[in-house]
Amino acid sequence: MSILLWALVGFFVVLIAVILVYAHWIEPVMIQGRRYRFWHVDLPETLDGTRLLIFADLHLKGHGRIEARKIDRIIERSRALSGDVYLFLGDFIHDNAGLVGVKRLLSRLPAGPPRFAVLGNHDYVTYELNHIVTQLGPDLRADGSVQQRARRLVRRVYKIVHLFLALALDWPLRAPTRQNDTDELQRYLTSADVHVLRNTVVSWPENGDASLYFVGIDDVVEGTVTDLPALPPDTQFGILLTHNPDGLLLQDWDGVRLALAGHTHGGQMVLPLIGAVHSQGTHLGRRRAKGWQRSQGRWLFVTCGLGESFPFRFCCRPEMVQIELRRGSHPVTHRPAGWESVPEPAKG
Ligand SMILES: [Fe+2]
Repeated sequence: MSILLWALVGFFVVLIAVILVYAHWIEPVMIQGRRYRFWHVDLPETLDGTRLLIFADLHLKGHGRIEARKIDRIIERSRALSGDVYLFLGDFIHDNAGLVGVKRLLSRLPAGPPRFAVLGNHDYVTYELNHIVTQLGPDLRADGSVQQRARRLVRRVYKIVHLFLALALDWPLRAPTRQNDTDELQRYLTSADVHVLRNTVVSWPENGDASLYFVGIDDVVEGTVTDLPALPPDTQFGILLTHNPDGLLLQDWDGVRLALAGHTHGGQMVLPLIGAVHSQGTHLGRRRAKGWQRSQGRWLFVTCGLGESFPFRFCCRPEMVQIELRRGSHPVTHRPAGWESVPEPAKG
């Protein structure tokens, strides 16, 4: 092989190593704070300026330096952004050990604002992601008849093909699961003043002239969504909290002006030309794996979240989001630096 070819191979090996180091140790703690103003004519006047602070997909594991740094950053960001209401959009934990991390985080969060939450699929189960890889290896067992060995081979090939199709076509990834102690998690959340909404509607403030209505639903995949609530008929401004954006498809959400979701992690790895590697197989697809969008005739915001399901992030920084609710519509006459307005201000 010529020196040039060796140099090229060496360059790509070093490049991939640098990217992996960056994606595993650096980007996951580069938490950005993002601020938006969401304009809507139906927002009650007394609630104009209410700030929602959104935490999603924490995926806490309860150990490790990266997690400790991440919690520090989340606390810093939450102090810098601040909010009138804290909203948690599920996937507090990655597995049962993550409850320790949840306690570390919530005990340090600024007290005062009410805290509402929905649960995510990882709050119910741990996915054996290693199994997805190991099951693709060759089955070296030589026992069994020729037919049995042939069947095992066909099953392997099927799994490999299915995995590649799932990645290529953005289908949900299948992995064996272990049950998490969701009741223990919910007990702790309740003791930490986090109001967990499992197919429930709450109003805030309770005694105000006008209120926001939060409707929080259980996780679409691992929870129970057979008995969904409706907002009161006279609801002026309802907000749907759903871990999985597909919660928006479950029924016609009368009264909901804004839906908030996580789950996709924004794709978690965003590659040139390909875009988001995977959107968890939601109805949004990989092109709409994050950000503001119209879906089912409503405004939907999908956050990139704060944690990871597999331990890499690339070109998709974790984020903490503040949404300031504003009464009104276009045009936006004043737009301070650092704010993004939704809907976009009319041009001209
Ligand atoms: Fe998640």
